[in-house]
Amino acid sequence: MIILGINAFHGDSSAALVRDGKLVAAAEEERFRRVKHWAGFPSQSIAYCLQEAGLRLADVNHVAVNQDDRAHRLRKIAYMAAHPPEIRLLVSRLRNRRQRRQIPELLTEGFPTDGFRGTTHHIEHHLAHLSSAFHVSPFEEAVVVSVDGFGDFTSTAWGVGQKGDISIEGRVYFPHSLGVFYQALTQYLGFPHYGDEYKVMGLAPYGSPSHMPAMRKIVKLTNDGAFTIDLTYFRHHRERIGYSWDAGAPQFSDLFCPALEELLGPRRHPEDPLEDRHRDIARSVQAIYEEAFFHLIGGLQRRFGLTDIALAGGCAMNSVANGKIRRMTPFRRVYVQSAAGDAGGAIGAAFAAWHQLGGARSFVMDHAFWGPQFSKVEIMRLLAAHGEEVMRSGCIIEEIRDEKELCRRAAAAIAEGAVLGWFQGRMEWGPRALGNRSILCDPRRGDMKDILNAKIKRRESFRPFAPSVLAEAVGEWFEEDDAVPFMMQVFQIREEKRGRIPAVTHVDGSGRLQTVYRYTNPRYYQLIECFRELTGVPMVLNTSFNENEPVVCRPEEALDCFWRTQMDLLCIGDTIIRRSPTVDRSEPNNH
Ligand SMILES: [Fe+2]
Repeated sequence: MIILGINAFHGDSSAALVRDGKLVAAAEEERFRRVKHWAGFPSQSIAYCLQEAGLRLADVNHVAVNQDDRAHRLRKIAYMAAHPPEIRLLVSRLRNRRQRRQIPELLTEGFPTDGFRGTTHHIEHHLAHLSSAFHVSPFEEAVVVSVDGFGDFTSTAWGVGQKGDISIEGRVYFPHSLGVFYQALTQYLGFPHYGDEYKVMGLAPYGSPSHMPAMRKIVKLTNDGAFTIDLTYFRHHRERIGYSWDAGAPQFSDLFCPALEELLGPRRHPEDPLEDRHRDIARSVQAIYEEAFFHLIGGLQRRFGLTDIALAGGCAMNSVANGKIRRMTPFRRVYVQSAAGDAGGAIGAAFAAWHQLGGARSFVMDHAFWGPQFSKVEIMRLLAAHGEEVMRSGCIIEEIRDEKELCRRAAAAIAEGAVLGWFQGRMEWGPRALGNRSILCDPRRGDMKDILNAKIKRRESFRPFAPSVLAEAVGEWFEEDDAVPFMMQVFQIREEKRGRIPAVTHVDGSGRLQTVYRYTNPRYYQLIECFRELTGVPMVLNTSFNENEPVVCRPEEALDCFWRTQMDLLCIGDTIIRRSPTVDRSEPNNH
């Protein structure tokens, strides 16, 4: 049975293909369109998934979409009767709904010689989120939680997953939402773009939670384990929030009201300097989020008595909160899939449909490499086409067929202070680069963050960089030890180790680690192993292969990013391109 899952007309539109209950391919549309968080119809991701599976659209039996406009219909009608929406808001909602209803037509339009002959399933948004976590987790039985902005009139849902079934035991409905709260405060702090919440999470440890009394006015915990938000401070429930993706990327207008500025002081505009007050507010936002999150999941743990938890939804990307679960609750294992946000709805919808159709569980997602890969021939052809240009620029190209030798050379370059582009195998599914579309460098150098920002990233200086760690070494270097293959948990680095890896140690001593396994990515594992042999440190600094754009997908984009930036080396398949030596070859500098 072939099921195509789709997240469309939402941020991070995407597609995934499931064959007989096993994931075959998944990708986000932004990687093909080259527009971050692209939000329209994911026709290129669909084309990729079909190609990867060797199928035509006509072979697809079912299409599953992570939205069901019929869900909670009575509740929506009752809410709208009590709070009549502006006519413009209504028109925009209806347009959105019509677009989703037209998916079979859009498929036929996109693949005119092919045609879609299967059945379309509309899966309620949060069931898709919960399925995207639980149905691909290693758990037989677990508490399942989706914490989000909004989808199908709901912001939060929870329940229990048992084998193929998910029973939803509770929800928080519109207009109360932790996702909206976090996003509104992110806008207030001067970070206006879709997905900027992680900047607030990165800024938080620089401040103190001195605004908690104000935060407790905004977010209130309820006796049933859930929460409400004080609507005085928000606009989303009473007027039209400008949310469009006309140019592909989602755009929002402000979600907060002037009342928020009366409570917290004037907003910060993006060009304003960051002050202590902003850092304190960021810390307080993160702290109240954690308070509400642990109120919810702590209650669920007591109620159901289970020790495994699977999380999804936009807020499940809050790796700082996720990393505290084992410390704050009796949960022992945490699973957050690599595309925990709306992109993941594509696999969630597909797996929910698979189980609704009577399929059995036979798949665990233990790695994120579900995207396109490029053959050696394609890479060699590209390099041949650019060969002259490469030589003229003084770069040296070398093909190294022995994998161990390739990894040894790459590790040596990293240990000498080089910034290395690492392009290998299948592209990652989800927002994180996890060792196939990555930029790697030495975590031991105190100046590496500045070097990376100067050469390539140009990110805000407060944002941390993350380590990829050999899975067996986690306990020795971190205070927690769990499988974190998708970089979805932040752990405290052991105090005595922090000085050795300053480039990946955040200001509060934490690190957003990725655990690397030989069986899921042997080449990346080998590279880090070579780095450990050279330095005694079983990890490298890993950041996404891009420069203010979606993560690179094709070899052309990797090469182009290498030219545009001051990356020192590019390792693409078995080939290393080395820029003429300008890197600082001095010993690691830990100041
Ligand atoms: Fe969502």
